[in-house]
Amino acid sequence: MPNRHASLTAILCALLLTTNMSVSTANSSTDPAMIEQRIEALLAQMTLAEKIGQMNQVNASDDDMSDSLREAIEAGRVGSVLNQVDVDAVNELQRIAVQESRLGIPLLAGRDVIHGFKTVMPIPLGQAASWNPNIVREGARVAALEAATAGINWTFAPMIDISRDPRWGRIAESLGEDPFLTSKLAVAMVEGFQGDDLAETGTIAATAKHFAGYGASESGRDYAAVNIPENELRNVHLPPFKAAVDAGVVSVMSAFSDLDGVPATGNEFLLRKILREEWGFQGFVVSDWDSVRQLAIHGLTENDRESVYQAVTAGVDMEMAGQSYINKLESLIEEGRIDVAMIDAMVANILRAKFRLGLFENPYTDTSALPAIANKQALETARKAALQSVVLLKNDQGVLPLSAEKLTSVAVIGPLADAPYEQLGTWIFDGDRELSVTPMHAIQSLVGHDVDVRYLRAMDNSRSQASEAFDEAAEMARDSDAVLLFLGEESILSGEAHSRADINLPGDQAELVRRVRTAGKPVIAIIQAGRPLTLTNIIDHVDGLLFAWHPGTMGGAAIADLLFGIESPSGKLPVTFPRMVGQIPIYYSRKNTGKPPSPDTVVLIDEIDAHAPQLSTGMTAYHLDAGYTPLFAFGYGLSYAEFDYEHIRASAREIRLGETVTISAELTNNGDVAADEVAQLYVRDLVGNVTRPVKELKGFKRLRLEPGQSVTVDFELHTDDLAFFGRNMQLITEPGDFHAWIGGSSETELRTQFRIIDSD
Ligand code: BGC
Repeated sequence: MPNRHASLTAILCALLLTTNMSVSTANSSTDPAMIEQRIEALLAQMTLAEKIGQMNQVNASDDDMSDSLREAIEAGRVGSVLNQVDVDAVNELQRIAVQESRLGIPLLAGRDVIHGFKTVMPIPLGQAASWNPNIVREGARVAALEAATAGINWTFAPMIDISRDPRWGRIAESLGEDPFLTSKLAVAMVEGFQGDDLAETGTIAATAKHFAGYGASESGRDYAAVNIPENELRNVHLPPFKAAVDAGVVSVMSAFSDLDGVPATGNEFLLRKILREEWGFQGFVVSDWDSVRQLAIHGLTENDRESVYQAVTAGVDMEMAGQSYINKLESLIEEGRIDVAMIDAMVANILRAKFRLGLFENPYTDTSALPAIANKQALETARKAALQSVVLLKNDQGVLPLSAEKLTSVAVIGPLADAPYEQLGTWIFDGDRELSVTPMHAIQSLVGHDVDVRYLRAMDNSRSQASEAFDEAAEMARDSDAVLLFLGEESILSGEAHSRADINLPGDQAELVRRVRTAGKPVIAIIQAGRPLTLTNIIDHVDGLLFAWHPGTMGGAAIADLLFGIESPSGKLPVTFPRMVGQIPIYYSRKNTGKPPSPDTVVLIDEIDAHAPQLSTGMTAYHLDAGYTPLFAFGYGLSYAEFDYEHIRASAREIRLGETVTISAELTNNGDVAADEVAQLYVRDLVGNVTRPVKELKGFKRLRLEPGQSVTVDFELHTDDLAFFGRNMQLITEPGDFHAWIGGSSETELRTQFRIIDSD
């Protein structure tokens, strides 16, 4: 921390008192009509250079903030900084902006606070496995409060790109494959970051990113081209963004990727037609890092100047890094190629965010007004989020939960049993590994002296090919009552620019499983990873398997509680797990095809009759060597309880357009422990003017049931909930027949049906 900033917070607090700026300011100054007046008044005073300054975001990660940054802020040439998290430094930057620039416009201070600040929640994909908007909202709230202590008032989250390719490293940051689940959790995250009132202390502006289609990059290679037909774009990729916009998200980030030949940062169709005209978005659009200048690298433009022209006319209000707006935009306006009225509207979008955040009244951060970092409640939220995000994928003969009373010894083996940094996952710029509770430590403290816990790392890291320690591992397994194998991927193997073509367990981990298996003891694998992995080569060699994603700060505590039955697993997969990589993309809401596969039509490669090969395949849509089902389906996840669904019914056989039908079923806990279950509603529209998926998630509820308890789970469906974008790209609910299912995964077969008829 530079010395000259050390006592600034104290000075600024005094200043706040003397200038009558309240620390918590929710007042008429944030009234929307008033804000528009204030924007207009401010714009009237601004020079063109100052307007362009607002559109410029500068990297300020330098601890020793450069003189040129100070000068630029003073000259009104910077609207936002990112990556400065020293609160005194941020306060100093705000002071320069507010007191030394001509118009005193405060700064937006941005940072990637993706799944926690110091206290780290599970990776977003893990949070999505909780299917619990409340815990996701709470996690974002904790992240906002902690980030606010560093002077941050704007985060670049949630990332809500629909992700159906586990090779893509950024699937870790996503909320999975499904538009409905992603939309619900996206809204929860926006609410958690932004609270009820952005001007309150401890709320920060959110960003819906990356608009749009970034998750559909070719072969999951990060930054690669994306081709999505408009109908699929509207039905699958855009709904979460629409939901975030409706929830009042302050900003939207344009994607790096090329969408159907027009990179998103220069894509007027996305940024103006859909976002502004169709959805009425009132916030502002920020480019991704240097993605304005990358328009030339894509080959959309000849040079930076033309890139600026394309990005501005497409609707990118603020440029992140890159500096090309500040260097090239003024001359484009002076030449008359860009109208100043367009610039005014764009600057207004940015100023609106600053007014909504209450920054004009209260630009400074007073850390004493905020809760302590990693306080009890923050850690409890992280523990609960991890607990609900872990998915039990296999539990043969009820090998789990383990009983501390019955065991005398347990072998804890593997590279991720005691890896405090790795369990935090990707995008944890500020995450504090010192806070991590690892599984190894949590298990030890949970079982105390009752069970002898032996530990062997066995591999330096998950990528290691060295198997020298495997004999010792097998021996330790033989000498113990049960084996807990902590496997997976380190955090570096997922995230931005960290895609993989092979998504098996890396290194020699599968061999470690086989060797440990020879000991003949119960083997339970606990996998931490940033993506779904293909587990086909190990699944038959383990008795139990918990998939824990990268579970964050409190991940170890949650895993220990689940292993020893303090709590039952309740996570459900937010994304399909393929059997092998060649099945990708594989997702539950596929289209039916004209030749749908079924158990009767599928002939696998080793079943082909050598004597009559031409008769041997089923002529349907499947892979000879993989069939057509995934290893684990979307929505799947076991419990220590036993949940049974029956008696599904629709409240009406027929409803008119504009009416509601209730789909309900009986859910019973036939097990002998209390547990949470996530009940899911799926629907199929049998006939559409464009074909509809074989199943679509339309509702979910997390419920807690005592042993023996039965409840009626019901979901209300309005006919608007069944609307889709048809052939002419209009949103429409078509009369006709629908199937509806309720169950504990997308493979549920408990079905009813209803019909929609015209309203007249
Ligand atoms: C990422 C964004 C991120 C930005 C700022 C980019 O490389 O794509 O998601 O917000 O960097 O760190």
